[in-house]
Amino acid sequence: MMRLVRWQPEDLVHRLDDVIEVYGSAMGYNAELLQTRRGYVAAHAGRPGFRGVATLGDDGSLLGFGYGYTSTPGQWWHDQIRAALRRDDGKAWMSDCFELVELHVRPAAQGHGIGQRQLRALLSGVGHRTVLLSTPEADEDVSRAWRLYRRFGFVDVLRDFYFPGDDRAFGILGRSLPLPAHIAA
Ligand SMILES: CC(C)(COP(=O)(O)OP(=O)(O)OC[C@H]1O[C@@H](n2cnc3c(N)ncnc32)[C@H](O)[C@@H]1OP(=O)(O)O)[C@@H](O)C(=O)NCCC(=O)NCCS
Repeated sequence: MMRLVRWQPEDLVHRLDDVIEVYGSAMGYNAELLQTRRGYVAAHAGRPGFRGVATLGDDGSLLGFGYGYTSTPGQWWHDQIRAALRRDDGKAWMSDCFELVELHVRPAAQGHGIGQRQLRALLSGVGHRTVLLSTPEADEDVSRAWRLYRRFGFVDVLRDFYFPGDDRAFGILGRSLPLPAHIAA
């Protein structure tokens, strides 16, 4: 059994060790990179428009989590994407936008619909016109993340995008909000 709960910013900070552990195992990141991410995650909790969810096992263990916040100029991620988009696309996608920052499920718990439920809960009731996310480029038919985002109607905003200081290619995906009824249900 498991349950989905909403997280306030302080819940994310309170369970930061577990968050980083789930994040690291889901993404396959090394300890050094995770240490850097730890600082970012704690800072993200204080951003305007923060929304978080978590999936807990019977014993309270963390099976998955996700969060995002309002995307605004001055935020590193926002500014990188905006600079790469044509002016009108930037305006359309980013002037009233929720950034889905993280969405992860512990590997042993993947493939049971947890990610899908977390994504739905995060996006339902978001008071913005669009949602944007970045995810490592992968085979769309094989990658669970890509399949999930496509099922939710996310379209390509930028492909093969490189963030400064990172040698992996990312896809930037987006969709309009609110979610249509057949996805939100
Ligand atoms: C991407 C990720 C968050 C998706 O979470 P997940 O729980 O594994 O995936 P989903 O919620 O989409 O699971 C749905 C799958 O379970 C199946 N499923 C089984 N029972 C289900 C149920 N009751 N409800 C819905 N789906 C169910 C679905 O058929 C679907 O199968 P598919 O993946 O073959 O299409 C997760 O796999 C993950 O953390 N991956 C690594 C990290 C990552 O890439 N994160 C995103 C980067 S931004």
